Amino acid sequence: MPTDANNLSQMPSSFARADFPSDFVWGCSTSSFQIEGGATVDGRTPSIWDHFCQTPGKIRDASNAEIACDHYHRWPEDLDLAKQIGMNAYRFSIAWTRIFPDVSGVPNQAGLDFYSRLVDGMLARGLDPWATLYHWDLPQYLQEIGGWENRATIDAYLVYVDTVTRHLGDRIQNWITHNEPWCTAMHGNWDGMHAPGQKNFKAALLVAHHVMLSHGLAVPIIRKNVAHAKVGIALSLHPLRPASSSETDLAAMQRHDGLRNRWFLDPLFGRGYPIDILAHCANDLPTIRPSDMAAIATPIDFLGVNYYFPETIASAPDCPPLHTRLEEVAGRERTGFGWEVAPDGMRELLQRIANDYPAIPIYLTENGASYEDVMDADGSVQDCARRDYFIRHLASLQRAREAGVDVRGYFAWSLIDNFEWAEGYMRRFGLVYVDFQTQQRTMKQSGHWFRTFLRGAA
Ligand code: NOJ
Repeated sequence: MPTDANNLSQMPSSFARADFPSDFVWGCSTSSFQIEGGATVDGRTPSIWDHFCQTPGKIRDASNAEIACDHYHRWPEDLDLAKQIGMNAYRFSIAWTRIFPDVSGVPNQAGLDFYSRLVDGMLARGLDPWATLYHWDLPQYLQEIGGWENRATIDAYLVYVDTVTRHLGDRIQNWITHNEPWCTAMHGNWDGMHAPGQKNFKAALLVAHHVMLSHGLAVPIIRKNVAHAKVGIALSLHPLRPASSSETDLAAMQRHDGLRNRWFLDPLFGRGYPIDILAHCANDLPTIRPSDMAAIATPIDFLGVNYYFPETIASAPDCPPLHTRLEEVAGRERTGFGWEVAPDGMRELLQRIANDYPAIPIYLTENGASYEDVMDADGSVQDCARRDYFIRHLASLQRAREAGVDVRGYFAWSLIDNFEWAEGYMRRFGLVYVDFQTQQRTMKQSGHWFRTFLRGAA
């Protein structure tokens, strides 16, 4: 039998759920492509990620997400698990190709019905639905016409957003337009690690611009369709360190910050693209129409922050366009994925946002860690490292709150182990272990800890 062993020795003292406000949002995050499977069920058609998975060499274990966690069929069990842990919210994403499977523009009722059942299932379990409208699974038929490089994709996105929010807006208040636009643009089009997999910086900046523009144009549509809507966007943001105290490394860190963080934050808050970076990208800048920047800066209700790790930056004269590179510093604590574990980086990042930008409610929309979990002979998964990761990051979040940052919720990534993009099934992030052969779910020790914590018993 799995044990509820909670070795809380690393729990910072004076740290409990009761230290957070009673209306604090406690949730976990997932995304459609990573968990649903059901790739051809009820009319769903391929996204760019289905296509990418077919390309040899793109996915580390040569897998795909045709079945993934089979959440499309097993969602009641998965929502039960979120409820069991004691979450009061659940962040999920909608698969665009379930709603608009082809170019005809006719919405697919079966797809809308699936999400309608899913949302009803959340509400029945006391889970407040937080819907992400775009978590990277662009319809392949839109990629055929240029994907996010083509302004027509913005129009298609707005029709999709209008349709989804009209159908589900009576039951979902919180809407996230995009998940991690930096990844959509840069991993998808600059380093080619993600779908559609091209390596072209100019294209990446064009995609970033169109994605952010589609965000801004979607905000009023959501507000029109959803009474009392709360609309935001989830950005992947990183605290940065210079590789040395040299002036060149410090300047490199500033440039990296300009593209990694400020390229998205500044336009959202009405400041346009960061001036110090524009000169470095002069040959690669997209054409910006007169009303674009005002649209991107349409006021939002909250900022979603996905925090995983800090980055250390060195000057690299032979790495255009910004002449920077990431440095892997030896001796740092790391997850099984090799990501640096730096809980205080969360507080630092949150305080930086609060200091540098106008006041806005913040939700930590993702935070979590991948380790090589093993199931013990007794059927339990003793993921102490992940449990400690959560404890230390929540303590850091609490320090940010004490310092005055308006953080109103925390979503763990992820509820269940799932398809980790270019890493396939090789990286487990779940509070719940998934046996991908049998689809059996097993609560890990981290999930048991969360449950104890949320019950107020920790
Ligand atoms: C960022 C993404 O939003 C999510 O899809 C991914 O699985 C996690 N972080 C972990 O890499």
